[in-house]
Parts: sequence; C-alpha cells; structure tokens
Amino acid sequence: MKYIVVSSRCPFSHDKAAGKEIIKENVGGVATALRRAMEKYGGTWICWGDGKLDGKYLDEDVGKYRIRRVMLSVPEKHGYYDLYSNRTLWPLFHYFRERVKYTDNGYEIYRRVNEKFTNMIVQSLSPEDVIWIHDYQLSLVPKMLRDRGITNRIIFTWHIPWVSKEMFETLPESRDIIDSLSRSDFITFHTETYRKNFTDLLDENSRAKSLVIPLGIDYRYFSKTRGTDIKSYALMDRKLIFSIDRLDYTKGLVNRVLSIEELLRRHPDLVGKFVYVMIVTPSRTTVSDYVAMKRELEMHIGRINGEFGSISWMPILYMYRKISDKMLVSYYKNADIALITPLIDGLNLVSKEFVASSDKGILILSRFAGASNCLDGAVVVNPNSLGEVAEAIYSAMNMGEDEIRERLRKMKEEVSRRDTDWWIRRINAIAKRKINDRTVT
Ligand code: G6P
Repeated sequence: MKYIVVSSRCPFSHDKAAGKEIIKENVGGVATALRRAMEKYGGTWICWGDGKLDGKYLDEDVGKYRIRRVMLSVPEKHGYYDLYSNRTLWPLFHYFRERVKYTDNGYEIYRRVNEKFTNMIVQSLSPEDVIWIHDYQLSLVPKMLRDRGITNRIIFTWHIPWVSKEMFETLPESRDIIDSLSRSDFITFHTETYRKNFTDLLDENSRAKSLVIPLGIDYRYFSKTRGTDIKSYALMDRKLIFSIDRLDYTKGLVNRVLSIEELLRRHPDLVGKFVYVMIVTPSRTTVSDYVAMKRELEMHIGRINGEFGSISWMPILYMYRKISDKMLVSYYKNADIALITPLIDGLNLVSKEFVASSDKGILILSRFAGASNCLDGAVVVNPNSLGEVAEAIYSAMNMGEDEIRERLRKMKEEVSRRDTDWWIRRINAIAKRKINDRTVT
C-alpha cells in the first residue's frame, strides 16, 4: 500500500532569487508531518506548483516518494486561491461572516482547479493506493474521484475549524461541499467540536466515518535542538513575552497588542520590566483583507510604543518576516511567556512547539485554539477580554517556579505522546483498516 497525498501546498518549491535558482522549503507543521509520512511509506505527493521555476519540475523524485505538481494560470490562482479558498471558505470556517464573499467569488474556477487535481490523482493511481487529501482548498475532490468510478480508500483531513450548521449553511455551495466530503471513507478533524459540527450535517445514509486525530509536532526536534542565547540590549533582565503567527485576522493580533496596552494601563509598575517580541510572518499578501490588517496592526503597535516607550525601552518589538527554525527555537527557549491568543484557530502548532522547546516558560493560550483541548497546564484565556488577557500576563509574571514546572511537565507529557509519528500511525491504521470495519478506535 502506498499513499497519494494531495495538498494545496507542496513540501518545497523551486524559485528564483538574485538571478539564481533556489529551493523554498515549506516549513509548516503539516508539511513536516506529511514529509515524514511520505518518507516512511512512499508514494506520490500531488500539490500546486506555485514556485516561479516549478514548471521545470513537474515530476520530481525525492528519495522514497515522487512530487507531481499541478500548474495554475494567473486567473486560476486568483479564483481558486485568492477568492474562493481565502475570501470565502477561510472566513466562513472561522466564523468571520462579515468577511465572507458569498457571490461572484471564483467558485467555478475553484471547481475547475479541484478537477485538475482530480485528473492528476487519476493519472497517478494504482489499485492498492490510499488517497489522503488535505484541507479546505480541495473539498470537491472526493466526489469528483467517485464520479469517475474510483473506489480506492479516501481519507480526508480537515485542518481548520468546522463551524455550526447555521454558519455553514449560509454558504450557497454548502451542499456541494458536504456531498463531496461525505464520499470519503474517513474524514479526520483536530477536535471533537469540529467533528460533531460536521456530523450534524450528514444524512443517515452517509458512509463517511469521522474521527478526531489531532496533528502533533516533531517533539524530539523541538526538545533536543539547542537554541542560542538571545542577548540583546533591549531584553537585559526583562521578562520576555513571545509570539509568532502568520499575519491573519483569525490570530487575534490586534486584540493582543491592545491587551499589552491594557496591561500597562492597569499595572504601570511593569513599565520597563518586560519586552514583547512579536514576530509576524507574511501570508496571503495578494488578498485585500490581509493588506488592510497589516496596516491596522502596525498603527496600533506604533501608537502603543509611542505612548509607553522611552529612549531605553519599547514594550513591543515587532518583526514582520520569516525566521529560521534555529532562531525560532531560540525564542521558544528564552521566552518566559508565550502569548498565543487567536480569536479562533483549527489547532495551533506553535503552542505545542513552545511546550516541547521550553524549560521555564508559561503558555498563555486562547480557549478558541483547538490545541487548548489537550494542553491541560496552559493558562487559558478568552482573547476577546483585553482585561482577562492582561491579568493573565500579570499573574504569569508572578507565578512560582514549582507551578511553572508542574504545568510544563503535564503538557510535555501530552505533546511528546501524541507527536507527528503518533498522528501518522493513527492515519496509517485507518488506511489499512478493513473496509467494513468502521469501529472508532
Ligand atoms: C492554514 C491552512 C493550510 C494552509 C496554511 C498556510 O494552516 O490550514 O491549509 O496551507 O494555513 O496558508 P497558505 O494560504 O499560505 O497556504
């Protein structure tokens, strides 16, 4: 048995920088886990060739597996990615109803691009293969495969939240999506709430089995990698509060800097006592909402630093860029507090990475991050309450060492037990399960 993994993003792309060919790795947690699965079991990985030079590498052998790239024209990319995936499905599945573009939104192009992925799967398929499809960009593929008579096992992994029936049904194409996903044999979610919301939409005849299998991280890498000591004049003996997120309105970035402002208003004694290092990585820069959000966030950071900062101290050290893995681990290890407060997040792997890396840190985590379901030991907050987040930071700064150690110990146990390899093993178990055996394990 081999896998045909299908995801919008490739594990890496071929690009061009300063006239030279370069390889751009996809460093996200999903890509890391899928790479691991492919190296272990072999097969084909079908994904969108979005790099400038990917056209030269349509089929590429990488050790035990092969990458096959689906190429998109500029209008295809716009309709599939900028419009329907990211201006309709993304806000819808994160409860941002006012941001959802319901009409004239690229659905037909999205459908055609899903068809292109389907063609590539059909061309690559052998009878024993298991097809493992990922995320909201490819929701129509299961039905397209079945309509062509493909009977191979299909596993669909949904990485973002699944919303309530009322919210989902605001989408004009909701029926198409549910009719397609329910033609998979198994669909996996990261939390029980998402799974339950999804099953509320199925009719009794649906044979799709839904399961909760939360994605894990490479615990060994994060716990064993030694970071460098971050020495900076700006940090000195101050407490280090840290966060890293893609620039996205779901991440609660504006609320978070407003909580820092609230903290300083309520506790002026903290002026000069901490530094909040906020790293934001560029994302979806061709989608208008993201451009507007960047401006709004930066305006607040400037205003807060302007009001509370001085020549020798700034409360928020903001960086808008990608950073290396090594640097990331260094921040995790040096941080006294990780402040992870999304308004909603399918899972949030940053929180797990921090837990694995840190020996002394406190995790402040939004109750609306999927990961909060399994990280018993985090200080859980509602990111909509600036006061609650501010007070959580204040208490964290005064937390005793024993309590910090005990909270971390509990969380490390969970994150190390259900790591990337555990996730892959669980998927592999359902990939191999007899077709009639639909018991939930
Ligand atoms: C989320 C989604 C992924 C997506 C990633 C990065 O984690 O669940 O499907 O790939 O964001 O977003 P991008 O638009 O860059 O693919």
